[in-house]
Amino acid sequence: MRSETPVAVQLKDYQAPDYFIERTVLDFDLYDDHSTVTAELTVLRNSDKGSDLPPLVLDGQELELLSVSIDGQELPSSAYQVSDNHLTLQPQTKRFVLRTQVRIHPESNTALEGLYRSGKMFCTQCEAEGFRKITYYLDRPDVMSAFTTTVRADKQRFPVLLSNGNPVAQGEEGARHWATWEDPFKKPAYLFALVAGDLWCVEDSFTTMSQREVALRIYVEPENLGKVQHAMDSLKKSMKWDEEVYGREYDLDIFMIVAVSDFNMGAMENKGLNIFNSSCVLASPETATDAAHQRVEAVVAHEYFHNWSGNRVTCRDWFQLSLKEGFTVFRDAEFSADMNSRTVKRIEDVVFLRTNQFAEDAGPMAHPIRPDSYIEISNFYTLTVYEKGSEVVRMLRTLLGADGFRKGSDLYFERHDGQAVTCDDFIKAMEDANGADLSQFKRWYSQAGTPRLAVSSYYDKASAEYTLTFQQSCPATPGQSEKLPFVIPVQMALLSADGEHLPLQLKGEDSAQGCERVLAVSEAEQSFTFVGIEAEPLPSLLRSFSAPVKMSVEYSREQLLALMQHDSDGFNRWEAAQQLQLAILNGLIAAVQAGKTLKSDPQLAEVFAGLLADSSLDQAMLAEMLSLPSEALLAELAEVADVEAIHQAREFLRKALAQALYAPMWQRYQALRAQSREQAYAADAEQIARRSLQGKLLAYLMLTEKTEVKAACVEQFEQAHNMTERLNALACLVNSSFAAEKAQALAQFAEHFKDDALVMDQWFSVQAGSVCPGTLNQVKALMQHPAFSFKNPNKIRALIGGFCAQNPIHFHAADGEGYRFLADQVIALNALNPQIASRLLTPLTRWRKYAPARQAQMRAELERIRASGGLSKDVFEVVSKSLA
Ligand code: ARG
Ligand code: ZN
Repeated sequence: MRSETPVAVQLKDYQAPDYFIERTVLDFDLYDDHSTVTAELTVLRNSDKGSDLPPLVLDGQELELLSVSIDGQELPSSAYQVSDNHLTLQPQTKRFVLRTQVRIHPESNTALEGLYRSGKMFCTQCEAEGFRKITYYLDRPDVMSAFTTTVRADKQRFPVLLSNGNPVAQGEEGARHWATWEDPFKKPAYLFALVAGDLWCVEDSFTTMSQREVALRIYVEPENLGKVQHAMDSLKKSMKWDEEVYGREYDLDIFMIVAVSDFNMGAMENKGLNIFNSSCVLASPETATDAAHQRVEAVVAHEYFHNWSGNRVTCRDWFQLSLKEGFTVFRDAEFSADMNSRTVKRIEDVVFLRTNQFAEDAGPMAHPIRPDSYIEISNFYTLTVYEKGSEVVRMLRTLLGADGFRKGSDLYFERHDGQAVTCDDFIKAMEDANGADLSQFKRWYSQAGTPRLAVSSYYDKASAEYTLTFQQSCPATPGQSEKLPFVIPVQMALLSADGEHLPLQLKGEDSAQGCERVLAVSEAEQSFTFVGIEAEPLPSLLRSFSAPVKMSVEYSREQLLALMQHDSDGFNRWEAAQQLQLAILNGLIAAVQAGKTLKSDPQLAEVFAGLLADSSLDQAMLAEMLSLPSEALLAELAEVADVEAIHQAREFLRKALAQALYAPMWQRYQALRAQSREQAYAADAEQIARRSLQGKLLAYLMLTEKTEVKAACVEQFEQAHNMTERLNALACLVNSSFAAEKAQALAQFAEHFKDDALVMDQWFSVQAGSVCPGTLNQVKALMQHPAFSFKNPNKIRALIGGFCAQNPIHFHAADGEGYRFLADQVIALNALNPQIASRLLTPLTRWRKYAPARQAQMRAELERIRASGGLSKDVFEVVSKSLA
């Protein structure tokens, strides 16, 4: 822990490194009470920076330096300086071999950064700046080196010794053994990985497009061998997809994934040796939900895709993080869309973006996808860098077209293979491949905030002209009061009264160009006039959510109903349903605030009845259409979030719908449940859609508190052959007033799954999310449960995160106990695991969204954290920016 105020790093201060490291030879000697790391670095002066020899300043933290030598000559301690963060020495030649030996303590590393123990195994997490906790190094992504790594450990307890690249040698020395790995591809230190443990693997192989055989191995602890097949299938699909869609082939002879239980994030793309949070690898029908299966598929793909977008072409500095993350999220989203339902994937991603990234963009931590400065880079692995970054890449493809985009990505990979580059280089490749000018588009990289897009229309019957006018603006964000106009691609169509999609000809064009097109809105106010429009049309705008903006269009209810029925864009059919639901919910929220008795609006029930009766409607779409906007989204959309009014209004509407639609819902539910009973589980699109709809219906039906529904829910909980149905039923019971059934189900579940950590995470989250009274006390009690651990990030996320981030009505309890609870946990975690502590803080950073009384309570807790002393850089940055 530090005492002085941490300083911010600025993008504008970037300087190329003074020295490079050509070769890195590492030797790890792993023991239970310490480990030693010997590093032999072939250091070379960066000749671009001159022929003088400035001091060599290596990064290093929490290292005990045992020896230093240069070209075989041991250095006296007077020849170098060691500080908390650096080892500094004076080179005498422009090329030399530096050898250091350090002692480190993975066994007491609770931050899970660098080399650490997870259960019985050793593993690493080096991105972004964890390698400096392993050895002295130039720990920056523009220093790329060829690595050779030897790992030594006890033979019996650590039979498997892994690192990046290919295995080249191994041997035994009494009770210990060793293995040497060589990675021929130059890489920055953040992609280094090491694993030692008693691991078993599932093995398979993949033949690449140029007919090379690649061995695929997924390593897990022996009890999890039965839960690996889904990840393996996902890996093979990813490898094939990247060849087909991006022309990218895998390069090493072996690709390994290791599942670890204690991991700060989802997974890490280390070259040839991906290390995963076990929650993103392990899946079986009995233990993992459909959502978990889809997450495994997406994360396996994401990390695999990084082999090109991240590893072969990496980032020059950490301000460029979205270069690899935004692009790779876009790649994995398209992969998932191709493997599953494209429309549903898009809806899920947009809901997530609107609920969480828009909130980040409106809060104190708002930053552009390429930030200008940071105090702790770990705080910038954000929804903005990842999800909005992906939206920016999607807009590029929308503007350039699929073929132009592919030409651009081909040029990018070819031009920069083996290099550490910038977002500007990515855009330059897109420009050069397409002869395009993207200079204004680049504002998406430098300006923060969610743009607003207001749309109005004018129809002139006499000239048969229809004009759409767009006005864009962007709210101020920290450090950016004024914004320049963005380039906003508006994918659109015009519908006639009977739902036909009209041919689109802009004034000045010779002929119509199809029935869908992309308007590039680039000015603060801009109009587009269509000709040959015989009657006033209904516009379908921002189709497939073609830009990450908040669009406002004044649609009447009739128009929304027409879009729901006729729009050929599935996303916009759903969007019309959302807008209708939002209008109704906002009316109810206003009524609660005005102290009026709530009256149900028959229109939505009629719409839902129509949807339920339409047997041609895709079940996945139906499930999405029946989902009301969440309380979190309603809070984000509100000027001032009134937590209780939002909760009451939404619960009222859900109950009203359940009562009005009881008969068709109950009938449909029973039919779906009967199908589930008869069919073996598969995580395929059709079954996932069916279970999703079944789950939505059960949740509505349970609100009626009817005995027959309760019995069905208990039956589903007890008899389901898969976790999706079982957990849906459990969640319904937990949120119901059926105390006896609830208690019994929770106990039964815990008894059955007590030894499965990932299943117990779901048990914790379901309870943390309960709307029933007393949830906070229950959460506190569960922190004492034997399956809970304060040192395991998945447990923290499931229970504490589940309560603070997914349970608005209790987290924001008027007595401030929810805020106090979160602050207590952050203070405790700050010393143990700063990254997790800082992430947990997010809900408190949103204090400006609430009414003055809550604002004061939330700020007071932030102040209390600030005053608690010994803050990590991670927590310091978030707290100080939130209070600024
Ligand atoms: N690069 C990893 C990914 O694929 C995430 C690593 C996150 N590391 C961190 N320190 N925040 O998304
Ligand atoms: Zn990533």
